[in-house]
Amino acid sequence: MVYQGSEFYEDPKIFAEYWKRRVRKESANAVLEGPVFTELVGDVRGLRVLDLGCGDASCGVELLARGAASYVGVDGSAKMVEKARELLRESGLYQEEAPAGRIEVVHQDIRNLEFAPGQFDLVVSRLALHYLEDLAAVLHRVRELLAPGGRLVFSVEHPAILSCSASLEESARRGSWIVDDYFLSGPRQQPWLGGEVVKYHRTIEEYFALVQAAGFTVESLRESKPVRERFDSEGEYLRRARIPLFLFLAGRK
Ligand SMILES: C[S@@+](CC[C@H](N)C(=O)[O-])C[C@H]1O[C@@H](n2cnc3c(N)ncnc32)[C@H](O)[C@@H]1O
Repeated sequence: MVYQGSEFYEDPKIFAEYWKRRVRKESANAVLEGPVFTELVGDVRGLRVLDLGCGDASCGVELLARGAASYVGVDGSAKMVEKARELLRESGLYQEEAPAGRIEVVHQDIRNLEFAPGQFDLVVSRLALHYLEDLAAVLHRVRELLAPGGRLVFSVEHPAILSCSASLEESARRGSWIVDDYFLSGPRQQPWLGGEVVKYHRTIEEYFALVQAAGFTVESLRESKPVRERFDSEGEYLRRARIPLFLFLAGRK
């Protein structure tokens, strides 16, 4: 079975495997993706935040702790939505009776965002937009949802790693990567977490152009260059220095 987008995370075995890897101390999310994302979002005090493909909403917990005024997480997986509400509840942030719009997790598809124009100051998305075929439409919609001067910050799987399907065997320690068909954008079926999923490959240049074409001024483009101090061992640091895993873009309306 080959999954698309959120349905991948609805498979119980894949969901369990995802969380096993996600919570590892030196997970790629913790040591590579998180620090750059935090740097790019900057000061969030007073901001109304929308998170596309929010997963367990740990991003929301962090942004609210840093002073965000409100947080709405959107995810297409019912399992993730349940986990997100659980985490927000445990953190004392989520209350069923709370006035709508302050802290919410909505079971919704990113391709169908049902919010009022200008409702948010910051739209974030972490490792979800590479599941979308029509990113242009989503970025245009995101721009509508942002207030003037509002920002978009997102991370995706890096195009280098997404274009080496041929060498993606499910082995934890790969010997080498073969980047191939780099300039052929489009769906790539990949073995991951014991299942098969479709992700959409785009070149770095295409990501940049899509953000601009949606009407954003691109403020930053980053990769997930490892920082030695964040790793316990030299070996793990050098392993992560071999190939980029994540790409980030930040733009302003
Ligand atoms: C790799 S997880 C990342 C979760 C979270 N942002 C994080 O960084 O921990 C990707 C998430 O995107 C969600 N997703 C993928 N495609 C989606 C879509 N079309 N609509 C809504 N959610 C989607 C998945 O359900 C999943 O929770």
